[in-house]
Amino acid sequence: MERLQKVIANSGLTSRRKAEELITQGLVKVNNEVIRELGTKVSSQDTIEVNGTILVSEDKEYYLLNKPRGVITSTSDEHHRKIVTDLIPTTARIYPVGRLDYDTTGVLLLTNDGTFANILMHPSHEIAKVYVAKLKGIITVDEINSLKNGVMIDNELVKASRVKLKKKDTKSNTCMVQITIHEGKNHQVKKMFAAVGYEVLKLKREKVAFFDLKDLASGEYRKLTPKEVAKVYSYK
Ligand code: URA
Repeated sequence: MERLQKVIANSGLTSRRKAEELITQGLVKVNNEVIRELGTKVSSQDTIEVNGTILVSEDKEYYLLNKPRGVITSTSDEHHRKIVTDLIPTTARIYPVGRLDYDTTGVLLLTNDGTFANILMHPSHEIAKVYVAKLKGIITVDEINSLKNGVMIDNELVKASRVKLKKKDTKSNTCMVQITIHEGKNHQVKKMFAAVGYEVLKLKREKVAFFDLKDLASGEYRKLTPKEVAKVYSYK
């Protein structure tokens, strides 16, 4: 038995918060009866109807995409820009695990398995995300240490667990820095570099947990193996 809002969210229909709203608004029925109580337990035998749509449990699908620039990490866009789910031909209601900015490239996982997504996104699991940023200017050792010791962004102290200067080009006055973080705050990497005085000219995510871009060109994707999915579940 699982909580109703979790089952709705895991179906890929909507987020857990939105599912809770729908329940309290009286828009969810279980076995044809309106249920307004959050936390009501349901089983796979129950028929759940959300806003007139009966939930059908989909087979779980898992993808790793090398996100190109100029694509939105969302499942819809009111301005009709290209969205990441356009790049993966499936009828399953997959959605991205976390966000990358429109101009950020690299590792993006997509799934219709809410539990899998939650394991990777929940702060308590401290999943490592490795980025490479091209900066305007050349970062100093002191500034690298500041990023490791913690900088304030949006009134919160955030730290990088690893920061490494990979390349510098004095002619163009730019450098490439690899940075590892464990949270997933909005625009976190750009804000962290801004906090020490640098504009990010390019940003690529090289790794999330053990997932990297090996053999995937920009815009390409692959299915995860059952072994990889099980490994993520082992973090639970
Ligand atoms: N941090 C950012 O600033 N942008 C991203 O897309 C991801 C992390």
